[in-house]
Amino acid sequence: MTTAPQRWDESDDQLFLRYGDVFVPRRAEQIDTVCGLVAPLPDRDAPHLLDLGCGEGRLTAALLQNHPEARVTGLDGSDTMLAAAAERLAPFGDRARLVKASLQDRSWRHGTYAAIVSSLTVHHLDDDGKPQLYRDLHTMLVAGGRLVLADLVRPATAAAAAWTACRWDDEVDQQAAAPPGDPSAAGAFRDSRWNTFRYPDLVDKPATLAQHLRWLDEAGFDDTDLCWALAGHMVIAATGRHRDRGAR
Ligand SMILES: C[S@@+](CC[C@H](N)C(=O)[O-])C[C@H]1O[C@@H](n2cnc3c(N)ncnc32)[C@H](O)[C@@H]1O
Repeated sequence: MTTAPQRWDESDDQLFLRYGDVFVPRRAEQIDTVCGLVAPLPDRDAPHLLDLGCGEGRLTAALLQNHPEARVTGLDGSDTMLAAAAERLAPFGDRARLVKASLQDRSWRHGTYAAIVSSLTVHHLDDDGKPQLYRDLHTMLVAGGRLVLADLVRPATAAAAAWTACRWDDEVDQQAAAPPGDPSAAGAFRDSRWNTFRYPDLVDKPATLAQHLRWLDEAGFDDTDLCWALAGHMVIAATGRHRDRGAR
């Protein structure tokens, strides 16, 4: 008897490294959105940013390019992903730092950051882990620092989930067909049952938009906002409350 995977594993690494550009709807647009929304960075001299679940370092690299004054730490639990990230980030020298850690672990949740970002990773935490993460991240942001999250978002009804699953399939089909084109990508998306809104699994635990907004509010964030959404993917942003307002 085979047991269903409960955590991201090496087979996910290989699929995502090979097909991430097709599996993720408008990946470049999402990365641009996150990079834009971290600004303005409050700590202008030497802003330090944190990228949670940095994977192969695509967003980390974009942050370093878009914010030449910044240093970025990327955290991930996968050796395979961290090796790919190390190669991509080598040109940035000591402006980029990589840390191996589990997202669930709380021992890395200290230090002070001008902004914290994450792409397609927070949904791997369960619905106790996500609000705890938001509470901890709030204590790690400098006053006025931005938290910007790109992630899966769970539709609030079964009917909306079914529609969203179809929209995600459509996006993948279009991206697989667009030049330069990857004929195997659409088949890989279906065969791997990557579309969690069609094939729910124990690895992906997306929450609804309403849950995220409530948890961020309860953690003390201000300006919480939905900034981009498509086919079950979203970018949300929030601002760490200023220390003077007594939120710490
Ligand atoms: C879908 S990939 C996204 C990677 C990258 N942020 C991007 O958007 O290209 C999810 C990433 O989260 C990492 N991850 C998943 N669960 C994790 C956990 N419990 N602890 C640490 N990293 C985890 C994986 O190793 C992987 O790199």
